[in-house]
Amino acid sequence: MTDAFIPKNIIVTGGCGFIGSNFVHYVYNNHPDVHITVLDALTYAGNLENIKPILGDRVEFVHGNICDAQLLDELVPGHDAIVHYAAESHNDNSIANPEPFVKTNVEGTFRLLEAARKYDVRFHHISTDEVYGDLALDDPAKFTEETPYHPSSPYSSTKASSDMLVRAWHRTYGLRTTISNCSNNYGPYQFPEKLIPLFINNIRNDRPLPVYGKGQNVRDWLYVEDHARAIDLIFHEGKIAETYNIGGFNEWKNIDLIKVIVKTVDRLLGRPEGASEKLITYVADRAGHDLRYAIDSTKLKEELGWEPTLQFEEGIEKTVRWYLHNQKWIDNVTSGEYQRCYQDMYNQK
Ligand code: NAD
Ligand code: TYD
Repeated sequence: MTDAFIPKNIIVTGGCGFIGSNFVHYVYNNHPDVHITVLDALTYAGNLENIKPILGDRVEFVHGNICDAQLLDELVPGHDAIVHYAAESHNDNSIANPEPFVKTNVEGTFRLLEAARKYDVRFHHISTDEVYGDLALDDPAKFTEETPYHPSSPYSSTKASSDMLVRAWHRTYGLRTTISNCSNNYGPYQFPEKLIPLFINNIRNDRPLPVYGKGQNVRDWLYVEDHARAIDLIFHEGKIAETYNIGGFNEWKNIDLIKVIVKTVDRLLGRPEGASEKLITYVADRAGHDLRYAIDSTKLKEELGWEPTLQFEEGIEKTVRWYLHNQKWIDNVTSGEYQRCYQDMYNQK
């Protein structure tokens, strides 16, 4: 039994980042009657270019921080839902400097929950499978919604904390909430600090590919549009207070995935097969590096009928083509030029 929910006016936090911007495009393309307010602080990971072509009557951009209670007081009334993507999202950054992670992921989620409570707005929290910790490489188990939380990194522990806050706001105040915990996403508009866009760009530029440790760690990969479709479904038809795991049933050892990327980029650039394998460079392992993530999304399939649609080989091909065809996007990101988009559009100094 699900609660059908038909929002007309939603806030998407972090809608200029990788997954948030893909979701904004998805809603724009599939729900012509929905108005979207994107709230984004435009940190280094936020790129207004990602949604610039669709800004207008149906997609409005608000530059602001989710920790700003006063701003939320002005913004939230009149909206019927918040879909919360904004976060500090990169594990390596969280190891080097955890403070912004606690601020944005914990305090920011708290501020949003308070605003949602005050104005009785439905709340969906985008979270990660990393809250469950990691599995042994040879363990047949996968994470289910019942797996106890056991986060390893500053990033995943702040996401676990924010999930707990969401649950408490439902139980204590009756806030209408849902949570989704997703595996590693890939696709267009991902900041090239993450494995897949970083490696595509490095291969294109003949730069080393830094493989942490022995490259044996395993991740489950999901195409970002399949994630957007899952969120859309949970948001409309998911049951209040429930958590849904989202994953691709698509586990890859890092080194095997890297070889697929190398092969695909070489082929599309017309280089001899495997020519760029020489760029693979084993480097010191990430501190506390989670061994394996594997997610069981059976509940989402059985309750709401969701399944990933894109085969991995097809998704990787599509992704590599996107980065190669959008060299200006990635060059603007790596040079810092992308940060001018906001200044140019809003004529700020
Ligand atoms: P991202 O780093 O690409 O984007 C984050 C966005 O949030 C950026 O636009 C940034 O400007 C904005 N932001 C950061 N701090 C803010 C603040 N204080 N106020 C307002 N905006 C702020 O992240 P992503 O990879 O798109 O991840 C989005 C969400 O999905 C995160 O909550 C992350 O935990 C979750 N998630 C990510 C993955 C993945 O594979 N990347 C997998 C599962 C879940
Ligand atoms: P990443 O894209 O940072 O995502 P996450 O930490 O959320 O899984 O990394 C994916 C995997 O690739 C992870 O096991 C770490 C590894 N990795 C490298 O080996 N080298 C790199 O330069 C990066 C960024 C990641």
